Formats: sequence, C-alpha cells, structure tokens
Amino acid sequence: MPSNRGVAYMGPGKVEIQSIDFPKLELKEQKRKCEHGVILKVVCTNICGSDQHMVRGRTTAEKGLILGHEITGEVIEAGRDCEYIKKGDIVSVPFNIACGRCRNCKEGKTGICLSVNPARPGAAYGYVDMGGWVGGQAEYVMVPYADFNLLKLAASSKADKGLPSKDVVMEKIKDLTLLSDIFPTGFHGAYTAGVGPGSTVYIAGAGPVGLACATGAMLLGAAVVIVGDLNKERLAQAKKFGCEVVDVSKSASVGDQIEQILGAPEVDAAVDCVGF
Ligand SMILES: NC(=O)c1ccc[n+]([C@@H]2O[C@H](COP(=O)([O-])OP(=O)(O)OC[C@H]3O[C@@H](n4cnc5c(N)ncnc54)[C@H](O)[C@@H]3O)[C@@H](O)[C@H]2O)c1
Ligand SMILES: [Zn+2]
Ligand SMILES: [Zn+2]
Repeated sequence: MPSNRGVAYMGPGKVEIQSIDFPKLELKEQKRKCEHGVILKVVCTNICGSDQHMVRGRTTAEKGLILGHEITGEVIEAGRDCEYIKKGDIVSVPFNIACGRCRNCKEGKTGICLSVNPARPGAAYGYVDMGGWVGGQAEYVMVPYADFNLLKLAASSKADKGLPSKDVVMEKIKDLTLLSDIFPTGFHGAYTAGVGPGSTVYIAGAGPVGLACATGAMLLGAAVVIVGDLNKERLAQAKKFGCEVVDVSKSASVGDQIEQILGAPEVDAAVDCVGF
C-alpha cells in the first residue's frame, strides 16, 4: 500500500505536510465498509478562500485537520457498488458531499444533504464542522457515493462515449479543477442573484470566486459587470477580461463609483464574493 501525505491545519497561521493514513473504503462513524466509494490519487487541488477562514484562526477547526475540498483525481480503487465510475477515470469532486438519496439531494439541494454529516445537514472534505471527512490536499483521498458525487472528465473505458481523452483533460487540468468549487460557486452567486441578458451587476470581491462570478454573469448575458475590491492587482485582472471596476479603498463610495459607470447608483443584481 502506498504512503500518503496531507496538508494539516496546526493552529492559526500554521499548516504542515504530514504523513497520514492511506484512505480505506470504510465509513468510520458507521463502522462499515463504503462500497459506494472510491479512492482517488489526487491529480490537482486548489486552496479555497474558505480554507483561509480556518487557517487564519476564524473558526473552531481542530489541530490535525487535513484540509482540501477542491479535488480532481484519478480513480485507483472503486467499491463493489460503483456502477458508473471505474478505476482509471479522471474525475472532478464537487466540494459538497452528498448521498443522492435523501429528500434534500432529490430536490437538488446537495449542499444540505441529510445523510453525510451526523451533526447537521451538509458536509465537505477537510472542513471544520462539516462531517469529519478527510480533506484532499493530499496524495490520496476517499470519496463516498462516487456514482452520484463525481463528475467524470475522462473515462478509462472506451464504452464511455463523448468524453475527451485523458491527454486532452490533463492539458486543461488546472482549468478543470475550478469545477469542484470556485467556478460553480461564483456562477451560482450570479444565477441566484437573478443575472440575465442585459443585467447590470455588482460583484463585491475580485478573488477567485468573484472573478468566476464575473465570468458566470457574462455567460448569463450581463450587459455590464462591475467588480469591487481594494487589491489593485486583482482589479487589473478583472479589467483584463472586460469587467468595469470599483476600488473600495478610494474615498468615493461604492455607489458613487457605480454611478460614474452606469449613470445611476444602482444595479440589477449584486453578489457578495467576500465572505468574512
Ligand atoms: N460554496 C461556498 O459557500 C463557497 C465556496 C468558495 C468560497 N466561498 C467563500 O467566498 C469568499 C471568496 O472566496 P475567494 O476564494 O475568492 O476569497 P479571497 O479571500 O481570495 O477573495 C476575497 C476578496 O475580497 C476582497 N475584499 C475584502 N473586503 C472587501 C470589500 N469590502 N469590498 C470588496 N472586496 C473586498 C479581498 O481583498 C479579496 O480580494 C470567501 O469568503 C469564501 O469562504 C464560499
Ligand atoms: Zn471552497
Ligand atoms: Zn443526501
């Protein structure tokens, strides 16, 4: 069995790489095998703005927590009950762990799955108060309910028609890794704020999620996308792909700066991509 290493939270401002157990297809809490799960060799993973909340000591995360909920990997072992996901598939792992069987999952509300966190609805890998699942900023990680959770990017079997080859996927793997959290989170923000053709939009925060939200707003047909931040490099990046920008560190208010762009201090939709 190969060794495994992961990024552990060790207290405010401190993380370290530790040797950790190689994952097993088992559910520790329920003390049973996890035949619907897979073990992934991690190909690519991101640091999320949400990890910073733990690492900067804003949460009750405990020492030793293995971080990482934005995972792309190759299936190296599939449990007996996996029908669609096979050994050798390259997959994206949505950060929300969901069973696909409970009432909330059936309504598409996988962020509040009722089965995967005994303490409350909703779970994620490597996150405080999210069910105790081991994170994927590691070499290997276990994913439960694999058929439901995983998005197949490239398939091991030729029977899986219509998917790109592994080589094509690996060429784009850093972009594809945005699919586990950053891009859908930003897109979901724009979508739920009601952005549609012709909308004017204000997005607070030009971090990865804010910029994904801006891209999402453009895909939804927004006429003007305005991104606000105090970080000048991030604002420059937003400008590069066609956003208007508001520098919130300036003495002029956000409303005044929006008025200079749109002629009125208001927008059709606004999205908070700052958080804390
Ligand atoms: N599904 C989810 O619920 C989900 C997923 C991913 C991230 N998040 C949250 O989304 C937020 C953004 O994530 P990120 O990775 O882009 O984080 P980030 O920390 O990289 O970016 C946040 C940005 O907000 C800017 N900012 C701070 N105060 C501001 C203000 N008053 N107005 C405008 N901008 C301001 C910061 O300068 C920074 O550039 C985080 O709080 C994160 O926890 C939620
Ligand atoms: Zn995240
Ligand atoms: Zn569920």
